[in-house]
Amino acid sequence: MKRKNETVRISIIGFGYVGSGVAEVVTRKRAEIARKHGLDLKIVGVADLRGVVVDEDGLSAKTLRKLSAGERGVGSWKEAAAEGLTSLDLIKEVEHEVVVEATPTNVETGEPGLTHIISALEAGRHVVTSNKGPLALEYRRLTELAARRGRELRFEAAVGGAMPLISLVRQNLAGNGVISLRGILNGTCNYILTRMAEEGLPYEHVLKEAKELGIAETDPSKDVEGTDTAVKLVILANSVFERNATYKDVAVAGITEITTDALRLASEAGFVIKLIGEVNKEGFLRVAPRLVPKADPLNVGGTLNVAKVKTDLAGEITVIGKGAGPIEAASAVLSDIIWTAKHF
Ligand SMILES: NC(=O)c1ccc[n+]([C@@H]2O[C@H](COP(=O)([O-])OP(=O)(O)OC[C@H]3O[C@@H](n4cnc5c(N)ncnc54)[C@H](OP(=O)(O)O)[C@@H]3O)[C@@H](O)[C@H]2O)c1
Repeated sequence: MKRKNETVRISIIGFGYVGSGVAEVVTRKRAEIARKHGLDLKIVGVADLRGVVVDEDGLSAKTLRKLSAGERGVGSWKEAAAEGLTSLDLIKEVEHEVVVEATPTNVETGEPGLTHIISALEAGRHVVTSNKGPLALEYRRLTELAARRGRELRFEAAVGGAMPLISLVRQNLAGNGVISLRGILNGTCNYILTRMAEEGLPYEHVLKEAKELGIAETDPSKDVEGTDTAVKLVILANSVFERNATYKDVAVAGITEITTDALRLASEAGFVIKLIGEVNKEGFLRVAPRLVPKADPLNVGGTLNVAKVKTDLAGEITVIGKGAGPIEAASAVLSDIIWTAKHF
């Protein structure tokens, strides 16, 4: 994919918030990407649990809009139940270069993402994913498979949403040794702690409010108990520090026990309390509520994410950005697609 005006055919597996966000940004940015990068991005197939739609010339903006609005049965749509056509058929049988994997995260089995990613790499396709599960469970197996097949596996959206963290370390800080990474990798927890500290409101009250605003899920346990942050930390440990860590290696504490009194006392002493994920080159992995000085760059509010990268040459670099949201996650996916297309 090195020549100018190269066509890059893309499939999107999983068409919920992130999948439809990717369709929207590819549609919106297509002309600009062709002009700036010499790449003609075409979405040739979309699959979800219900079915598959394929157009080898590229699905039209109108079809993609209808799919994003929840319509099915558009274009050459085939129902999985009626016609037995699944996402795996799209991945294996339709000629294309990049599979975008955006199905739900499952940190127990990695499925269905794990099978999608393995099948895509085995079929000779590059993979860009926002799905944490397969990476947290089988990072080494997947990256070794990608290397054997000479294909790229990229996953910026899985860790910090829109925040460019993996590419910052791998590309912009190439040549630096990374000593540690510390940060806030879960927007729901950050929202809750920020509101509790600023308004003096109790945990249960703010959690209810976050659910009403759609910031917390109906079952927020993975966020508030620190699991989501821990899973992201495992991916960082494996990708940045070349470890072979799993979730069991992380000491995890969440935010459910934090009281307004603790936040007030911290504030009087010049601190805030944040749920911080930390990983360093010695293999230390921890998620826990930590005191952060008010003037520290890690003190970001609301649903923002932040990461401080400590390096041997550049010193400390901090990135701040939106960790979730369909367009924000799609921004990271799009950037991974463009990088892949330009380097292979
Ligand atoms: N939302 C965010 O802001 C965000 C940010 C960063 C990363 N992520 C990650 O990105 C992934 C997608 O998130 P999302 O918010 O877009 O989730 P979502 O809205 O729940 O969408 C998931 C999609 O995957 C489909 N799906 C489920 N099982 C499938 C299978 N076996 N084969 C094909 N498609 C299947 C679902 O289809 P049906 O509708 O037919 O069930 C749905 O279209 C997750 O792993 C999430 O953790 C999300």
